[in-house]
Amino acid sequence: ALPRDLEGRRVVISAGGTREALDPVRYLGNRSSGKQGYALARVAAQRGADVTLVAGHTADLADPAGVRVVRIGSAVELRDAMHAESPSADAVVMAAAVADFRPLGLSPSKIKKGDREPAPIRLAVNPDILVELVKARPSGQIVVGFAAETGDETGDVLHHGRAKLARKGVDLLVVNAVGDGLAFEMEDNAGWLLSAEGDERPIPHGSKARLAATLWDAVVPLLGT
Ligand code: PMT
Repeated sequence: ALPRDLEGRRVVISAGGTREALDPVRYLGNRSSGKQGYALARVAAQRGADVTLVAGHTADLADPAGVRVVRIGSAVELRDAMHAESPSADAVVMAAAVADFRPLGLSPSKIKKGDREPAPIRLAVNPDILVELVKARPSGQIVVGFAAETGDETGDVLHHGRAKLARKGVDLLVVNAVGDGLAFEMEDNAGWLLSAEGDERPIPHGSKARLAATLWDAVVPLLGT
């Protein structure tokens, strides 16, 4: 049986990818399936938490039992939902794959091919939601980020992860190596768990539910009474 160590706790988790509209039928997106964020929500609910899952675009996943699901499309919508949901949370986990940029200006009608040279897509910078959530958090709230890193060497991925932990100001950061056949869309994940205290430990290759359990095991001791 799972521990009921999240009973009485409220957690907010983001999952899936954002989509940034170019016109009414096209968008910039990413390959996140939502599986990792859904696993985090399912395991938290099984351990007794009151869970809100803020879901972007995902594969065809069933809502986890007993979890409230809020749906969003773009990064700006995700930001609004996270700011609305997170103030009363004991822990906030950003597992969503957020677009760093959005097309500047949405075309109201379908962009035509025409016979001109292709027009460049101009981009605007999206807000860094995780950094905003860390700044806005009530005292005692635990904030967790994920880092999707590509790198030729384990050392590269960890190096980027450490820098991201510091830059974002989170309590815990899960660093997962991504790329062909890694993390995105897969049933399994692996990586490292880094803490603001300087702890670093590998998360062995295993199911996304297993990684979720490892993460909640690390969050529980950080929660106040
Ligand atoms: O969905 P799956 O197919 O199961 O795949 C899971 C996953 C690989 C998507 C997931 O495990 C993961 O790594 N999610 C974070 C992906 C990501 O956006 O990484 P990043 O390194 O670009 O961002 C770092 C952190 O900042 C993340 O917590 C992200 O949610 C957050 N962020 C990023 C950009 C932005 N503008 N705002 C943010 O809040």
